[in-house]
Amino acid sequence: MRPLAELVPQHVLGFDAYTPSKPDPLLMRQYGVSRLHRLNNNENALGPPESAKQVLAEFKPERAAIYPSGDSYDLRHALSAKFDKDPDRFLIGNGSCEVISSVIKAFCDKGDNIVTADKTFAVYEWVAAFSGFTSRLVPLAGYAFDPAAMLEAVDERTKIVFVCNPNNPTGTWWDNTAMEAFLAGLDGRCLVVLDEAYREFVDDPRFPDGMELMERHPNVAVFRTFSKMYGLAGLRVGYVCAAPDVTEFIRRTHIVYSVNSPGQKAALAALEDDREHILATRRMTAEAKNLLIRTFDCLGLEYVSGEGNFIMARMPVSDTLIYRLLMRRGVMVRTMSSFRFPNWIRVTLGARPVMEDFSAALGDVLARLPGAGA
Ligand SMILES: Cc1ncc(COP(=O)(O)O)c(C=O)c1O
Repeated sequence: MRPLAELVPQHVLGFDAYTPSKPDPLLMRQYGVSRLHRLNNNENALGPPESAKQVLAEFKPERAAIYPSGDSYDLRHALSAKFDKDPDRFLIGNGSCEVISSVIKAFCDKGDNIVTADKTFAVYEWVAAFSGFTSRLVPLAGYAFDPAAMLEAVDERTKIVFVCNPNNPTGTWWDNTAMEAFLAGLDGRCLVVLDEAYREFVDDPRFPDGMELMERHPNVAVFRTFSKMYGLAGLRVGYVCAAPDVTEFIRRTHIVYSVNSPGQKAALAALEDDREHILATRRMTAEAKNLLIRTFDCLGLEYVSGEGNFIMARMPVSDTLIYRLLMRRGVMVRTMSSFRFPNWIRVTLGARPVMEDFSAALGDVLARLPGAGA
């Protein structure tokens, strides 16, 4: 028999699959703890808005036998009403990750490339890599996306520039002026994806509104998600909004029926009842950030904090060692080596008691490191 590996393209053979974390019960047994605070995925500790919780509680199990709306019809119409845009300009995916994959499939051909930063959300780069396209990764400048260097990286084979605004994991962001200057410099040469996964955490008038930008710049596509602010990460709902022809192209490579019924219904309910929820989440996030900044200051640790529900800090030893030591104290953080930030960890900003547990655990871990306090 022919070795099956011979059938697999080189760009797939050379790609290392991502390994997600194990289920909580297994991890708790492995690390000998009776509870685990998950601070690794930037989830919302408040969960979804009340209206979404209610819709989920009322979901009839019999409905599970019925396929969902194949194109999330009601949810697209709710987004249309909220943003005052044609419903056909929205495309819903199984998380915005799925739509990232769809946009790359729609626009990239053999020999093409995408441009993004070297230290950002890795899915853009991964999808490009396992699909056989090059990623031109531009180094961050002072923890932020570098607009001038990104413009320089764009060539005639660049199809998409991915701008994570605010950036995961640094929280840095381009303001209106920087964004407009970048788009003017690019002059419509390729598609610009603004990944606004953390947009709802930002309360600064200088933050660019992608939904408005795309009306003046038809090469701008905005990606948003219900996983972060809306607390629906477990149901996997995200979307793209773009100019009608851009959405139309992406639709061709996008799997239909990929968004489940409870997810569609809960997202719709969350959207229509988000005001108080957003304010409460922003309050919790701001309080958590102050608490962790005080902790890092006390411990003499360098940190980077911007917008979004996360903060990064540099550890005096390897991030994987800190991860293991924190896990033994029931706290799970994100190691940042995979984001090309060796020795850094990223911590989700959440409820105060959990932030206090994290701070105590980190203080304890660092105090017990060999040489600490010597
Ligand atoms: C910047 C960014 N974009 C997209 C996503 C993916 O979101 P979703 O859960 O909608 O796939 C994440 C999740 O962590 C993210 O940080």
